[in-house]
Formats: sequence, structure tokens, C-alpha cells
Amino acid sequence: MTIQVFTEVEKRGHEQVVFFHYPQARLKAIIAIHNTVLGPALGGCRMRPYQSEAQAIDDVLRLSEGMTYKSSLAGLDLGGGKSCIVADPEMSEGRRELFLQFAACLNDLAGRYITAEDMGTSVSDVMIMREVSKYAAGYAAELGGAGDPSPWTARGVFNGLLAAVERKFGSKDLTGRRIAVQGAGHVGAYLIGHLVKAGARVTVCDTNRKAIDRVKEQFNVEVVDPEKIYDVTCEVFSPNAIGQTINHDTLKRLGCSVIAGGANNQLIDSSVYETLESREIVYAPDFAINAGGVISVGAEYIPGGWKESWVSEKVHNIYNTIHRVLEESVKRKKFPEVVALELAKERIREAQARKGRR
Ligand SMILES: NC(=O)c1ccc[n+]([C@@H]2O[C@H](COP(=O)([O-])OP(=O)(O)OC[C@H]3O[C@@H](n4cnc5c(N)ncnc54)[C@H](O)[C@@H]3O)[C@@H](O)[C@H]2O)c1
Repeated sequence: MTIQVFTEVEKRGHEQVVFFHYPQARLKAIIAIHNTVLGPALGGCRMRPYQSEAQAIDDVLRLSEGMTYKSSLAGLDLGGGKSCIVADPEMSEGRRELFLQFAACLNDLAGRYITAEDMGTSVSDVMIMREVSKYAAGYAAELGGAGDPSPWTARGVFNGLLAAVERKFGSKDLTGRRIAVQGAGHVGAYLIGHLVKAGARVTVCDTNRKAIDRVKEQFNVEVVDPEKIYDVTCEVFSPNAIGQTINHDTLKRLGCSVIAGGANNQLIDSSVYETLESREIVYAPDFAINAGGVISVGAEYIPGGWKESWVSEKVHNIYNTIHRVLEESVKRKKFPEVVALELAKERIREAQARKGRR
């Protein structure tokens, strides 16, 4: 894989991409700031032993752009950004020095980018960065921070799923509806709690036996092998594990009428739009339905800091967002994901126009 950085940045519309190199702290990091029209760019920091520099650049550019649209559609006054640190996420020796140095890099950007935990990083890394920088979000709830974003993500997914079910069946009542949940991790397990409480019949799978045992202990759910989840006769398929599980092969097996889940990048690519449309499967765009976590983490930066009532209202609003996206999708005769992107971009354009006039 090769990548032309400026070509890519021009195509995606990034404002700034910064490469940091501090060998004493073994830090090699990239921060990508996609758009700050609505506010500072917020997005997590991934730590991975990337196989190539191109892979790291591609990851950070793609994900930071996605954050712009996620925050915009969620009605947040935040822009989109992301960072990656090229290192083994299991590293323990020197980890503190590495994150202190990364926090100094955040300070160099003076708040244009705010980081948070992501794949390979954790709240304890955020707490290290907080010692020297206020630009690391998602710190411990005991200290007034947002804490674990997953319960909020799951609650938002539940609200968005109701809107999608309502669009398909004319009622958001889940009583007796069969929902196939792929993944019972942080988001999946909380989501199952909401679904069971709402009267749905849940079938779940996970590649990790412990995750399955945990949900089985708490809820009355059916369990299937991970590969069998696509064959479950259900009304809703809810992906909450890895990306790209909706592809041409799985679509041959999926018999659902609605797809609504928390996983990022659920669709393999836009080539599946046609199949989903022709089969009249209602799809809730992933970046619209899974914004609960960023809403909660972003709330640390509202005046007065994180507030449950503020987060709760915005997460509740994910129902309205999905409702609007699906309604506009019919009006504009476009696939929901395309419409969600359009709405996110429209909000940014309007904010830009207001700024331009001032
Ligand atoms: N945690 C959040 O707040 C948040 C926010 C937005 C989006 N997401 C997205 O939601 C998804 C789940 O996040 P999470 O925090 O719950 O992660 P997690 O790692 O806690 O849970 C994912 C679960 O999926 C399981 N899994 C992996 N591959 C699988 C497969 N092929 N089939 C079935 N199960 C499989 C894992 O064993 C794990 O239990 C991810 O795509 C993540 O990017 C999470």
C-alpha cells in the first residue's frame, strides 16, 4: 500500500496533519485534524504496531474524517480528528513517558485537537495525559469525567434502533421481535439489557466465550455460534462487534428487515446499497446511531463540564436523528448513509457561512 499524503488530504478535506517524532520517549504519532468549523477536533487515539506508514496514515485520515460527520450529525459543537501512535498496544515499559510526551504534543496544538481512548489505549492512558494536558477526554467518572462511553453508545443505539423499527413496521414496540446481536462486548452487552427490558427476543453471538457467559448470567438470551448469526430468522440484525460484516456474502444469508447496531464501518462499501434498497432493508447509518460515546466524552468540554442530563438529552435525540435520516432518505431518493453524510455536511456548511459573515 502506498499513499500520497497531499492527494489524500485534498480529497478528504483535512485542515492539518501533524507527524510527531520523539525517539527518547519512543513516540511516533500522527494527529489528523479534519475539520474544526463546528469546534475543536475530537477523536480517539489508536495505538497499533502498524505494518506500514501508509496504513497508519490511511487509518488516521479516514477515521478523523468520519469523526467530523459523526459529531456534526449528533449536533455537537465539535469537529473531527483522530490520532495514532505507532507502537505495540501491550507495551508497559516506558508507556507513561510515551503518553506524557504525546500529551505535550497535544499542548503544542493548543486545543485544536482533543484526544480520547480508542483501540489500544485506555482510561489509564488518558489519566496520564491529563497530568500535563487538558486536551485528553474521557477521564474517570469519579473525578467528574465522562467515564466509560459504552453505556451511552448502547443507549443511543437502542434509541436509533427504535426509530428504524418504527420506520419499517409502523410501531417501535419491540415486544416479541427477534433481534440478532453480533458481539456482546462493551456496547453489545448494554444494548442487550435495553432490548430484553423492552420485550425483544434476543439471539446473540460472540467469539469470546466469557462475553457470552456474562450476558447469559444476566439475561434470558439465545446463543448461536458466530458464523450462524447471519442465518438467524430475525426482524433486526444488530452488528456490535467488528466492521464490514454486512457484505455480499452475508447479505445472501441475512433475512432481517432492519440493520441497526453500534459497530463502526458496518457496510463493506457502497456496493451493498443496491441490495439493501431492493430488499427494503432499513439501515440505520453506523456513524449516526453510535454517536452516544462521543456525545458523552464531548460533554466534558461544555461549560460547567460533564452533565448527565445534557448527555441523556443528546443521546435520546439519536432517535430523532435516525428518524430524520430515514425520512429524508425517502424524500431525497438516496441511501440513508448518503443522506446522513449530506445532513452532516449541511450543518458544517451553514456554520461556515455564519462564521464567514461575522
Ligand atoms: N465502545 C463505544 O463506546 C463505541 C462507540 C462507537 C462505536 N463503537 C464500535 O462498536 C463496536 C463494539 O465496540 P465495543 O466497545 O463493544 O468493543 P468490545 O471489544 O468490548 O466488544 C466487541 C465484541 O465483539 C466480539 N467479536 C469480535 N469479532 C467477532 C465476530 N466476528 N463475531 C462475533 N463477535 C465478535 C469480541 O469478542 C467482543 O466481545 C466496535 O465496532 C466499536 O468500534 C464502540
